[in-house]
Amino acid sequence: MRRILQAVKKEPIYIEVANVSDIEKGKMKNVQVEGMDILIANVDGKFYAIDDRCGHMNALLSMGKLVGKNVICPFHFAHFDVTTGKKVKEPESEELKDTDKLPKDMLNFLKYVKTLVDPVKTYDIQTYELKVEGNKIILKLES
Ligand code: FES
Repeated sequence: MRRILQAVKKEPIYIEVANVSDIEKGKMKNVQVEGMDILIANVDGKFYAIDDRCGHMNALLSMGKLVGKNVICPFHFAHFDVTTGKKVKEPESEELKDTDKLPKDMLNFLKYVKTLVDPVKTYDIQTYELKVEGNKIILKLES
């Protein structure tokens, strides 16, 4: 009932998602909020939240690597700025290598997959506001 009233009033919803002590500087964490995967990143002691889904092919970014303020996707290595959600580097398109030992059917399948993956566009990622109260990291969701 509370959520319905909040939605009607269009009030933001605040949800405690983690403890400050859970996420060291330079680390990130996946949290589940309202059925969504959200990535919380600690960049030099300041926390940021973005969708934990790559803007390319939906991989979990929290399984990648945080370098400074950029998260690197574990799948095709696109980079996103966790402070803005902006894409800062396109995914890498690898050429098929060392294919001479592969069965012809497997090679044809890999070539086909490459034709499907290469044209997929990569988009910026949704960001969310956070606030820290004591040891609690609190996410703001717009209704
Ligand atoms: S899924 Fe992230 S770069 Fe492809």
